[in-house]
Amino acid sequence: MTLELRVNGTTQRVDSAPDTPLIFVLRNELKLTGAKLGCGLEQCGACAVLVDGEVTLSCVSSVESFEGKNIVTVEGIGASELGRLVQDAFVDATAAQCGYCTSGLVVAVTGLLSAQPNPDRDTVREALAPHLCRCGSHPRVLRAVEIAAGGS
Ligand code: FES
Ligand code: FES
Repeated sequence: MTLELRVNGTTQRVDSAPDTPLIFVLRNELKLTGAKLGCGLEQCGACAVLVDGEVTLSCVSSVESFEGKNIVTVEGIGASELGRLVQDAFVDATAAQCGYCTSGLVVAVTGLLSAQPNPDRDTVREALAPHLCRCGSHPRVLRAVEIAAGGS
């Protein structure tokens, strides 16, 4: 069965079984390996993508549930001015160590700032709480959010 997905502004036809979790289709069939498979249980945030602008975990929900929606992965995040700003802020803040969590966090911060351009610290913490970082990069991620939100 062929499904149509809208990914990073392009319509893609995929042949994976409809109940395949989205991340496997992104990574294995579309070769978009930015989203990472961490827990596979919607508990770490590494697999986050934007779906119709909302931060969405891709490791459990079936690919068929994303038909007709606009998916943006970290590979496509720089197509928007805000996405580029967030990417640059992560670089400026050196907000990564091993990087395994980073694509999910870049997606999450872009989604957050798109909805709330100037979030307070509690709002940022709440939005990023689902995103685990075993390397302890969160203080620098918070700094990246400040930079991206226009702080200095
Ligand atoms: S891999 Fe999806 S939340 Fe951990
Ligand atoms: S930078 Fe290594 S898990 Fe976050």
